[in-house]
Amino acid sequence: MNYTIGRRRGEVVERVYLKHIAQHVGSEVEIRGWLFNKRSSGKIQFLIIRDGTEMIQGVVVKSEVSPEVFEAAKRLTQESSLIVRGVVREEPRSLSGFELTVTDLEIVQLAEEYPITPKEHGVEYLLDRRHLWLRSRRQHAIMLVRNELIKATRKFFDERDFVLIDAPILTPASVEGTTTLFETDYFDDKAYLSQTGQLYMEAAAMAFGKVYCFGPTFRAEKSKTRRHLMEFWMVEPEMAFYSNDDNMKLQEEYVSYMVQHVLENCSKELEILERDTSKLKNVVPPFPRISYDEAVEILQKHGSDIKWGEDLGGGDETIIASQFDRPVFVHGYPTEVKAFYFKPHPERPEIVLGSDLLAPEGYGEIIGGGERIADLELLEQRLEEHKLPREPYEWYLDLRRYGSVPHSGFGLGLERTVSWICGLAHLREASPFPRLLNRIYP
Ligand code: 4AD
Ligand code: MG
Repeated sequence: MNYTIGRRRGEVVERVYLKHIAQHVGSEVEIRGWLFNKRSSGKIQFLIIRDGTEMIQGVVVKSEVSPEVFEAAKRLTQESSLIVRGVVREEPRSLSGFELTVTDLEIVQLAEEYPITPKEHGVEYLLDRRHLWLRSRRQHAIMLVRNELIKATRKFFDERDFVLIDAPILTPASVEGTTTLFETDYFDDKAYLSQTGQLYMEAAAMAFGKVYCFGPTFRAEKSKTRRHLMEFWMVEPEMAFYSNDDNMKLQEEYVSYMVQHVLENCSKELEILERDTSKLKNVVPPFPRISYDEAVEILQKHGSDIKWGEDLGGGDETIIASQFDRPVFVHGYPTEVKAFYFKPHPERPEIVLGSDLLAPEGYGEIIGGGERIADLELLEQRLEEHKLPREPYEWYLDLRRYGSVPHSGFGLGLERTVSWICGLAHLREASPFPRLLNRIYP
C-alpha cells in the first residue's frame, strides 16, 4: 500500500499502537486503524478511532488542518480504514484518558454502508456477520479475556513443568460416547473428529510424567443449549502417579490462577462487559467438595425428582452451584453415567474416582476429570460393556501392559470458562467463530 502521508509531510513520525499511547503524551504520533464512530459540530469533527488494541478520540479542528484533511475527515464513514497523525494529549474525561489533536489524515479505504450500527440488532443477524461483529467493543473485550485465559493456562502449566503435547484431531475411535461423533472419510476408512485428546495424553504422561494438550475438540451435540458448541477448545492435563485428590487440587489451583490473572490483566474488559468482579474475587482455593450422593440429597430437598444413578442436568448443576460462592467439585458420580475409562472406587465400584467442577452463577460444568483405570483386565472388560470395538484401542491397552501406573487428568472447556468469567448469557459469544446446531457460517 502506498502511504503518502509520510512523504507529504517529509518527516518521520513514530507509528504507535493505542495501547501504548500513554508513553507518547505531548508527541506527534501516527495511528493506523478504522473509524469506529464520528460526530461533528461544523468546525470540529470528533473521530473515534480504533486500531485493534484500543480506541481514542481524534479531534479535527477546521482552522488547524489543511482543507484536504478536513474534507477527508468529513467523508469518513463508519469502519473506513485510515491513517492519522496527531498530538497526544491527556484527557481524563475521554473514554481512553487521552485525545489526539489531528494534524494529518489519509483514508485507506472508504467503507461502504456498515451493516452493524449502534442500534440493537438481533443475535442471528449479528451471527451472520460474526466476521464484522468481532470489531464491536463487547466482542472485542470477550476475545481479549479469552486470549488472557490462554496465556494464563500456558504460564500455569509451564511454571509446573508440564510438557505441552499436541493431540491429533483425526482419530480412529470414540472416547466420550458414540452419539456425538463427527464422522469423516479417511481414504477408504472412517475417521472421527476428536472428542478429546485424553487417550493420547495418557500415552504422553507415561513418556513425560506431566503433560497437557490444548486444542479444538468436536461434539455433534444434537441439542440447542446455551452451554454447548459443536467445536470447542479444551485444556487437558494428564499426570502420572496422581490420585483424583491430587487431580482436584491441581484443578482448583489452575482455575483460581486463571481468574486472578484475568482480574489483574483485564479490568477494562470486565468493565465493558459489566461483570460483577466481586463474585470472581472469591475464586480462591480450596473449593468446596461434595459427593454425588450429597448432591442428589440437596437436589431432592430443592424439589427435584432426580433419582440416585441419574446424571445431573444443567438445571441440577445450577441448583448445586448456587449453594456456594466459588466453584464446587461434585465427586463420586455413578459409574453408569461416566465414560469407560473412569476408575471405579475400590470399596464402592458403583461410583467412580472422578469429579466435575461446577462454576458458580449458573454456568455449570467447566471441568470433567478423574483417575483412569490402570488395570488391563478391568479396562478390557469396560470396553466390552460399552460395546466399543477392540482394535482401535489396542494401543491404549498397551499403556496397561508396559509400566502401567495410577494416573489422573482432566479437561477444561475454554468457552465455558470464558463464558463464566465474562458473565455471558450464551457460549456462542465465547468463540470467535462458533459452530452451532444449524450454523457453520461464517
Ligand atoms: O466432561 P468432558 O466430556 O470430559 C472429557 O472429554 C475428558 N476426556 C477430559 C479429560 O479428562 N481429559 O468434557 C470436558 C469439558 C467439560 O467440562 C466442558 O467444559 C467442555 O469440556 N465441554 C464442552 N464445551 C462446549 N461445548 C460442548 N459441547 C462441550 N462438551 C464438553
Ligand atoms: Mg463431563
